[in-house]
Amino acid sequence: MSPLLSDYPRYAWHLLMGTRAAMEAEQVECRVRDLAPWLDLSQPRDILDIGNGSLRPQYALLRNGGHRVTGIDFVNRPGTGWKRSAYGAMRRLYALQLGLPSAAMDPQGLIGGNVGVMPFAAGRFDLAISNAAFEHFLDVPAVLADLQRVLRPGGMIWAGVHLFTSPSGGHNVSFTQYPLRSLPAGAEPWDHLRRRRRPFSVPLNKWRKDQFLAAFAEQFEVLSHYCALREGEQWLTPALEAELSDYTRDELTCATLVIIARKRG
Ligand SMILES: C[S@@+](CC[C@H](N)C(=O)[O-])C[C@H]1O[C@@H](n2cnc3c(N)ncnc32)[C@H](O)[C@@H]1O
Repeated sequence: MSPLLSDYPRYAWHLLMGTRAAMEAEQVECRVRDLAPWLDLSQPRDILDIGNGSLRPQYALLRNGGHRVTGIDFVNRPGTGWKRSAYGAMRRLYALQLGLPSAAMDPQGLIGGNVGVMPFAAGRFDLAISNAAFEHFLDVPAVLADLQRVLRPGGMIWAGVHLFTSPSGGHNVSFTQYPLRSLPAGAEPWDHLRRRRRPFSVPLNKWRKDQFLAAFAEQFEVLSHYCALREGEQWLTPALEAELSDYTRDELTCATLVIIARKRG
């Protein structure tokens, strides 16, 4: 059984218990607070969720908050099969957990497509948000260039990036523990930066914090950034820190980097 397949029972448990929903709701609050100096989210806004995902939590929460929300993701393309049906059931459960009417999950604002070539008019959005998706985009400069086009002048970006350099950044340990608190038997911390014994199962650009910050700064004014979630400090022994000396302690233990940026003009 692949390590990620073995996570599914725990995944269902997290959904049932509402652990994940609580994190999503927290993210809404953080974003409102982070953007408050530049964008008042108590007013209805045109918002783009890039890489909205199959469960589409932030898309649904923002719609329920009165915003006009569009999502773009490969997974929005029409399809059938057991996985689609399973996600449909999980979304209904998730809506309950998030305290949302199931209509908030309706797909009418969702576009199936590549975030590097978006089918939207120039200057259409006040805000682009993204959660745990930028690390999967294989052409980040193309995504940022297209975001530059579809945002209005002064439009904002709020992006949460799951950093590759964090213990869970290889996406090869567990996607249900966030932050990561335990390692599977036999797994070594930061295996993906060391011997790479455990395979990656999803596309990853393997970008580091400074690469993201530099790429954002090329296209936008980076107003602020911070580490929203730390993990793995307990595994970073002096010996391991020496072995991983190409990386800073900050990037080895930051699971989520939040970047807040603005389109100039
Ligand atoms: C880990 S999921 C995050 C989903 C969601 N934001 C969430 O927080 O639950 C990353 C998503 O990015 C999407 N994705 C990756 N590269 C993409 C691309 N070039 N164009 C469109 N979607 C992409 C994947 O299909 C996937 O749904």
